[in-house]
Amino acid sequence: MIAFVVAVLTHTFQFHDRISDVLGIRRRFDCKSILIPLSQRVGSVVTKDKEAKIAQRRDELMHAVFYKYASSRDDHPLVDKHDIEHALNAWSWLWVPHVASTFDYGCGKLRYQRAIADTTDVLAIVDSEVQLSRLQVLRRRETSIQNLFKQSNRIQVYNDLEFQELNTCFERGFCINVPSVIPSYARRRKLLDVIHGKLRDDGECLFVVQYRNSDFTRMRKMSKAKPWLDGFIIDSLRGYSFYGLILPDRLEASLKRAGFRVRETKLNEGSTYTWASLA
Ligand SMILES: C[S@@+](CC[C@H](N)C(=O)[O-])C[C@H]1O[C@@H](n2cnc3c(N)ncnc32)[C@H](O)[C@@H]1O
Repeated sequence: MIAFVVAVLTHTFQFHDRISDVLGIRRRFDCKSILIPLSQRVGSVVTKDKEAKIAQRRDELMHAVFYKYASSRDDHPLVDKHDIEHALNAWSWLWVPHVASTFDYGCGKLRYQRAIADTTDVLAIVDSEVQLSRLQVLRRRETSIQNLFKQSNRIQVYNDLEFQELNTCFERGFCINVPSVIPSYARRRKLLDVIHGKLRDDGECLFVVQYRNSDFTRMRKMSKAKPWLDGFIIDSLRGYSFYGLILPDRLEASLKRAGFRVRETKLNEGSTYTWASLA
């Protein structure tokens, strides 16, 4: 039964959708993404008290209920070795160690803010002034990003111009789905230059962009969608918007041109995840 559950979990793990759940240190991942779902799937009610006990006995439990059936080192594991390797491949790059300082460039509606904040002492969130100051529903109340973190010592909010002026360099950066919304190659390059200038010599940034999207086939047929660069400009009631699909090779090439060294690229569900440091 447990082997079956492990296999289902491994198979159905939606890496991209759950990036915010798994973006954290290994301990949190083991508990929240493996041990607690496993307990629930075998019918156990996981109370807060039980959660704390699971966290306390994480190592022992992982060996008893997970590695025993799905060890990547076992020659004949009960779960298909290919599934195990596939899952490990997808998860491993997210087990990032804790650092002192991180920025999230183009934070949007703060989709990843909590998960990223768990991996760093200080987090700078960056976006346009419009995005940071507008009222929107965040954490179930109407407020602005600037307001939300007004009192925070750990989270600093910068608009793109303030960030450019900043004299600080960061250990880690995230730039998730940002180049894809910029309808100009020159402005995309400018974005890479800014990020390059804000990383420490030993720092790294994770760039995520989509290279495949099933909606694009539909968009091609829409009269309001006009092909532009590597994507479409869409004319809607809310004004014009752009979305581009950036192929993994093209992302890597533009990073190299901007003075980055590509450490690793992983592809998953139509998105490319590239870790880059300074060349
Ligand atoms: C598609 S959203 C992605 C938001 C978030 N990273 C996520 O994945 O949920 C793109 C975000 O990038 C921001 N953005 C685009 N160009 C930017 C620039 N040059 N400087 C700062 N932010 C920018 C937009 O305002 C928007 O919030």
